[in-house]
Amino acid sequence: MTRIGFAYNQKPDQEAPRDGGDVEAPRPDEEPPSSAPARSSRAAAPSVAAEHGVPDGGALFAAATAAPAADPAADASDEFAEWDSIATIDAVANALGALGEVIRLEATGDFPAQLRETRPDIVFNIAEGLRGVNREAHVPAICEFFGVPYSGSDPLTLSLCLDKARTKEVLAYHGVPTAAFALVASAEEIPALRTRIRTVHHLTPAHVVPSERPLHLPLFVKPVHEGSSKGITEKNLCRSLQELEQQIDFLLETYRQPVLVEEFLPGDEFTCAILGNGDAATVLPLVGMNFAALPDGALPIYGFEAKWLWDRPENPLEIFSCPAPVSDVKRRAIENVVLRAYRVLGCRDWSRIDVRLDAAGTPNVVEVNPLPGILPNPEDNSCFPKAARAAGLSYDELIQSCLRHAAERQGIALPGQLVRPFARRAMASA
Ligand SMILES: Nc1ncnc2c1ncn2[C@@H]1O[C@H](COP(=O)(O)OP(=O)(O)O)[C@@H](O)[C@H]1O
Ligand SMILES: [Mg+2]
Repeated sequence: MTRIGFAYNQKPDQEAPRDGGDVEAPRPDEEPPSSAPARSSRAAAPSVAAEHGVPDGGALFAAATAAPAADPAADASDEFAEWDSIATIDAVANALGALGEVIRLEATGDFPAQLRETRPDIVFNIAEGLRGVNREAHVPAICEFFGVPYSGSDPLTLSLCLDKARTKEVLAYHGVPTAAFALVASAEEIPALRTRIRTVHHLTPAHVVPSERPLHLPLFVKPVHEGSSKGITEKNLCRSLQELEQQIDFLLETYRQPVLVEEFLPGDEFTCAILGNGDAATVLPLVGMNFAALPDGALPIYGFEAKWLWDRPENPLEIFSCPAPVSDVKRRAIENVVLRAYRVLGCRDWSRIDVRLDAAGTPNVVEVNPLPGILPNPEDNSCFPKAARAAGLSYDELIQSCLRHAAERQGIALPGQLVRPFARRAMASA
């Protein structure tokens, strides 16, 4: 029988039933905890972190205290939002159990020793990591160190995708559309940024390298290493130099990490689940963002307010539609762009990629999530399982399919067959 190690980080302080009760966090499930420095603004606050041997940080959502009128930090329990609840962990373990003996390996301090001792045939990895900007890479790197095969992307890809600017550099090098951008590491760099900003559009000659391309207002700013909309509020859409400088200062100060400054993509937004490898990589039915579902006057941004304030379990927003209502031509264009991004970034087995259309209707990659959120309860609106359901894959089939892709890639035998989703295969080249 195949011995399947299962690496995860469990949210602290959860009393949870093994049969999968409703202990799931209300929403954001997609990204990992912030780096410790980014959380320094709440360093004095008591935290469950200390009890779990994790250096305490601070409010991931400190930005929100100064941005919208409400104080979302007051009711958004945040610090471990990205780690998995026992309900998710049990659901994944249950799905894996159909393919072998599951060995739970919580990715805490004794993970290396546990891995060395148990030596599973393969590790199914959903661990978001404990700390630092390379946190998502730690479990795969330890698996590589001990020569244990694992599922999903390798340490390089996981670290790369946690840095939104480096990700965009790779995309730009390969000609995968992504909004023009700059990275601002300190307030001293703002004058140089100012020289790149234009209010009127002119065509940029082809010889201008991406790092010198002019940037056109409006611009969108965000902390470079965050996820789950941390530090992303309506104030991040900057229409003037004054707004821009103010918000960059605020984000630098609050999150203590460089700020990514991007041209604002005004078109429709999609998030795209990809499963598989090589030519067989498949884009599941697209999940479209329905910004009309946001409160009147809200900006078309799937940011902090939408994710954490307005979309509540007791009053859910109809924010996603899957399959997204798009023409075949548009869908193919989006699939092409995300598959190219998946390949040039070295993603494996699965990933979720956010895309937004620019003013000309061209799909641009916004960010890449090689460890996608996978909340099992459909009411939690988790995008990857939603796309899988639309493709005819149950939750268990989705998890098993990811493991099968990983096993197939590494020549590891598993019982049964790969279930192919009802979705279009990888487009030809692009
Ligand atoms: N360049 C951009 N143009 C337009 N909207 C953007 C841009 N970058 C981010 N957004 C909006 O902000 C949201 C969150 O940004 P994203 O980089 O995906 O952060 P997160 O990691 O928190 O999901 C996106 O879903 C999108 O609505
Ligand atoms: Mg996103």
